[in-house]
Amino acid sequence: MEEIVLRMTREISMGLAKETHPRATIKCFTTYVQDLPSGRERGRYLALDLGGTNFRVLLVTLESESSVNIDGKTYSISKELMEGSGVKLFDFIAQCLSDFCKEHKLENANLPLGFTFSFPCKQQSIDNGTLVAWTKGFKADGVVNKNVVELLREAITRRGDLKVQIVAILNDTTGTLMSCAFHRQNCKIGMIVGTGSNACYVEKTSNVEMFPGYQNSSKPHMIINCEWGAFGDNGVLDFVRTRYDVEVDSHSINPKKQIFEKCISGMYMGELVRHILVELMDKDMIFKGVKSQTLQERGRFETRFITEIESDDPGKYRNAAMVMDNLGIRTSNEKDLMCLRYICETISTRSAKLAACGLVCLIRKMNVKDLSVGIDGSVYRFHPHYHRLLMQNMNLLLNGTVRYELVLSEDGSGRGAALIAAVCAKD
Ligand code: GLC
Repeated sequence: MEEIVLRMTREISMGLAKETHPRATIKCFTTYVQDLPSGRERGRYLALDLGGTNFRVLLVTLESESSVNIDGKTYSISKELMEGSGVKLFDFIAQCLSDFCKEHKLENANLPLGFTFSFPCKQQSIDNGTLVAWTKGFKADGVVNKNVVELLREAITRRGDLKVQIVAILNDTTGTLMSCAFHRQNCKIGMIVGTGSNACYVEKTSNVEMFPGYQNSSKPHMIINCEWGAFGDNGVLDFVRTRYDVEVDSHSINPKKQIFEKCISGMYMGELVRHILVELMDKDMIFKGVKSQTLQERGRFETRFITEIESDDPGKYRNAAMVMDNLGIRTSNEKDLMCLRYICETISTRSAKLAACGLVCLIRKMNVKDLSVGIDGSVYRFHPHYHRLLMQNMNLLLNGTVRYELVLSEDGSGRGAALIAAVCAKD
């Protein structure tokens, strides 16, 4: 783990520095967010949240520090939309936004809108972001290398039935940090362990060489979107990767990309478990004599099954048996179910260890001794032991030198977007 922290630190320093940035795997993108919320932001804002299989439109009302009202609607993004034409994807987003605004009689309200777009983006300002590469199963064409704010504006203009001001584009990690910082002034990191994994942190502006004003900015801080999912894309993680990782990667939509993410996040954890199970079944070492076609199919072992299996009390295998039953493997053999649980635990524990390395790397980089970390994402939120595993492994590395708190950051993508929109509107 120390070796991973070391290698990660190198990549982050490379990402920040102008000369080495092109070669760095952790790009450390400038977010143009330099102010954390004060807790005094108020008003009504729209937020769009695109970053996984669900797309959300939200109306966020910041009423007081203790009362933030969120009204939202979730739409699912079909595989066709994820992999089809970019124009169709953005037309769909604009249509959802328009429907939502009409339902809430907001189509002429011209509200400020924050666009949470959770993919690697190179930003030139707070309201301009060029998609560098798709991640997490998206591959809609005509979007990479384009300014996605412009694509959204164009789609809204094509409809012509809606007045909004897009004031900011942000990553979900940034939203998570902002949302946590609204209540806790010492929040310095935002992390996601969900479909994908990534983190952002508060860097000294003077270290952010990729930011044109880094030497003479009046503001001391800049939030950096690490895009740590791409760590390992140059082979530096091969010393801990297994043949299952190699398998999962080679069958993915983006082979050799997002290597760290593929060891950690929800999009891949279940698939890793499936590969291990298939191998053991082929060797007749587990579920002997049972044949299941289902388990041979890619993606059939979902990450939420890991959460379910590990939610059984120790020594109990009720959920485990149910999950396997649904996959066509009817068994009450406790030894098999014990092995199944053990396999799930190895994958979730490894995920938490790697995420802990990432957090410790950022904490040491900032050299802070007291902080909160805002965290969101389905794996962190729903896995019964993830929080504990993260802490256990961070403690191992930090050895009592830092006081930190890991906080579930409620709805960063919505509240965070509103807060950034609010902070921007102040300028
Ligand atoms: C992927 C995206 C990143 C996002 C993360 C969590 O790694 O590239 O931008 O923050 O998933 O959603």
